[in-house]
Amino acid sequence: MAELKDDLDQYPVADSGELVGQVPVIDVGAIVADAESPNAADAVQAIATACREWGFFQVVNHDVPQSLIDETWRQTRLFFAQPAATKDAVMRSRENPWGYYNNELTKNQRDKKEVFDYTTDGVDPIYAAGNRWPEMATGFRDTMCAYRDAVTDLSLALLRAFCVGLELPAEFMQADFDKQHTGFIRLNYYPVDDPLLDANVEHLPVADLGVHHHTDAGALTVLLQDDVGGLQVFKDDFWHNVEPLHDAFVINTGDMMQVWSNDIYRAAVHRVLAMDERDRYSIPFFFNPAAGTEVNPLPSVVTAERPARYRTVNWSDFRGQRTDGDYADYGPEVQIAQYRI
Ligand code: OGA
Ligand code: NI
Repeated sequence: MAELKDDLDQYPVADSGELVGQVPVIDVGAIVADAESPNAADAVQAIATACREWGFFQVVNHDVPQSLIDETWRQTRLFFAQPAATKDAVMRSRENPWGYYNNELTKNQRDKKEVFDYTTDGVDPIYAAGNRWPEMATGFRDTMCAYRDAVTDLSLALLRAFCVGLELPAEFMQADFDKQHTGFIRLNYYPVDDPLLDANVEHLPVADLGVHHHTDAGALTVLLQDDVGGLQVFKDDFWHNVEPLHDAFVINTGDMMQVWSNDIYRAAVHRVLAMDERDRYSIPFFFNPAAGTEVNPLPSVVTAERPARYRTVNWSDFRGQRTDGDYADYGPEVQIAQYRI
């Protein structure tokens, strides 16, 4: 990854045009059916190229029913539209990160957004903590669990494509995710107005972004965004808009995929602009390996000419340290560069 300079936000936004290119849109129908079939070869190659060049792509023909997506949007809006006290009842804490929060920090600046995080059923092994569900008679919990399961299936299909793209058997990484993956969903609400402006609480100044630039920590992220726009990826000294497409999920690779691929696939730096006209909603699923997974460059990408560039990353340690940075200034956030050999 290019050095994360403090002035990264000073780089210009690219005009969409032939010269600078655009985040690729890939039909993944054949991959969802069978990533190893000859029919899927073009899509597997397209993903491999997108991961090398952008670390971002959009997928269509993904097999997640539109009716489930529509209902997930509806429930998300219902959740954030509730009175503050109702949302505060499921406020997350340092001990249990699942639930609602409106004071998130990225790199120690407060993002202008509200979030609700939830994970798999049962007790999350990294935090020994389970989901907090709001009391909503609308079917919020059932919808959110069905949505989570659908994007998990899509993520597993994409993982198989990543493996084939790196010349490994499709199921090569399955075991790291099968046991109990630690993926989680974040409902993001980016309001035009600062959510804490009227609140009688002590708070840091708001950043002039919805989300400060960052890489995602895990394997890959499957994101739904509404039609407002504002997500941008950094590439070749420009910020590029990730255009909202109604039928698509936005996929990006995270820090663990960068390690597994031995830097062939980069964890893309991205950010979200602050909203100034319309409120925005987005729903990322951060697909992460099981707790305790030891992440190392995969055998097919380590050669005499290209030795391993990372020492072992223990996923639970990495995730635990990254999350602490979300709460307060507990010291510098752990970065994947610290594991570089
Ligand atoms: C994130 C993120 C992008 C978006 O939550 O990590 O990058 O469009 N979100 O909301
Ligand atoms: Ni992100």
